This record gives sequence, structure tokens and C-alpha cells, in this order.
Amino acid sequence: MDKIVEISGLSKAYTQGHEQILVLEELDFSISKGEFVSIVGPSGSGKSTFLNIIGLLDDTYSGGIKLFGKRLEDLDEAEKAVLRLKNIGFVFQFDSLLPEFTVLENIEMPARVLGEVQNVKGLDLLRRFDLEAIAGKFPMEISGGEKQRVAMLRALRNGPALLIADEPTGNLDRHNSAAVLDDLRRAADGGTAVLMVTHNEEAARRADRLLRMGGGRLSEEKK
Ligand SMILES: Nc1ncnc2c1ncn2[C@@H]1O[C@H](COP(=O)(O)OP(=O)(O)OP(=O)(O)O)[C@@H](O)[C@H]1O
Ligand SMILES: [Mg+2]
Repeated sequence: MDKIVEISGLSKAYTQGHEQILVLEELDFSISKGEFVSIVGPSGSGKSTFLNIIGLLDDTYSGGIKLFGKRLEDLDEAEKAVLRLKNIGFVFQFDSLLPEFTVLENIEMPARVLGEVQNVKGLDLLRRFDLEAIAGKFPMEISGGEKQRVAMLRALRNGPALLIADEPTGNLDRHNSAAVLDDLRRAADGGTAVLMVTHNEEAARRADRLLRMGGGRLSEEKK
């Protein structure tokens, strides 16, 4: 199987005053193409810390990380920026759509950054996820659930190999959560590796693999 992320011996500590607080300790992890993996764990156990490291938002750690077969220590900042833009999509609990742009324009934003706006691609995504009816609406004209789904399509716009979602359903009711989980499954079925953190056990069980974060480590739950 194609490995999208391979991690061995990952440790991460935060400095607080004169103290070092170890959040991740010698942790191993991998995710393959098309796999949907969820992580659950108590608040403060290091889930977001872990996602931020994989998503190249934090490079203060020790251990080995390979993304898409490349060792991160071999890449310079510019190479990492391109990797982040083209190969990694990020979705957070609270959406961050730009209010003065339409749904379609928001989805096209990551392509705009690369100088590659093609509305037809954004529209195609909207159609695939049954959201074409809201393409021309502004964020204030759509529901919270729709906003979250649009943020997800925006994360998928550049066809990332890896989609990282930090509590994507944290803010949603059951119905909208189900729609977001369907979207994540659809993305995984399309070949994207999907890594989701959630507090919702039921949501977590929709993934192919369920991991628990605790004591600085990840352990796999047998399904
Ligand atoms: N920038 C920081 N500086 C110092 N400590 C931090 C920092 N960010 C997080 N921490 C600490 O690291 C630990 C892990 O935080 P993290 O945000 O990864 O937890 P989490 O599992 O995502 O929690 P939640 O479920 O509440 O989102 C917590 O004890 C937190 O207080
Ligand atoms: Mg968190």
C-alpha cells in the first residue's frame, strides 16, 4: 500500500516556564492512500499537536517523519510550503470561510494562491458532494453545516493526498455531522488519506481505523 505518512519515534515537548511538558512520546504512526483514520482521546492529550506537526504547521519536534515518501528533514522551507499547499488539506472545527467571497470563490482560494483558478474544478467538487445549489451564495447565507462542508471542499480543491480534519463535526448537530462524515468517506474512497480527530465515538467508528491518543502515545483499537 502507498504510505502517505510514516512516523517513527515522534516526541514533542512544550516549555512552560522552566518546565518541559512532554505531550507526544516516541510515537509511531502511518496512514496509506485512501485510508480513513480517526483519533480520539481526552482533551489535552496532544491530538491537535500531532495534527499540526503532520500538517507542517509546527516543526519543533524530534523523530522521523516521511510525507509522501519524502523525509521532512531533507526539505527546505520553500519545498515544505509547496507540499502543504498542493498535498495537504486542513479542516478545523470552526470554519474560516472568507465572508466577502461566494462559496465557489472560497473553494477556489487555494487554487488562486497557486495561480490556477479554474471554476470548473470547484463546480465539479460542489457537484460531486451535492452542493452545487449553493455555489453562488455567500457564507452568511448558508448554514453552519454547509459552511463546514464548503471548508472541506476548499481543503480538497488542490487534490491533496492527505486531508487532515481537527474535530470537523465538533460544532454540528447529528444530521450535519453525518453529512460531513459522508464527505470524508467519499474523499477517502477517491484516494485521499483522511486523518480525523474527534470527540465523538460514533463518528470515530465510521473510519477504517480508530486510534486512541493517551499518555503521549497512539494505540490502535481493534474493530
Ligand atoms: N503552544 C503551546 N504552549 C504550551 N503548551 C501547549 C501549547 N499548545 C498546547 N499545549 C499543551 O499541550 C497539551 C496538548 O494540547 P493539544 O491542543 O494538542 O490537545 P488536544 O488533544 O488537541 O485537546 P482538545 O481535545 O481539547 O482539543 C495540552 O496540555 C496543552 O495545554
Ligand atoms: Mg485539539
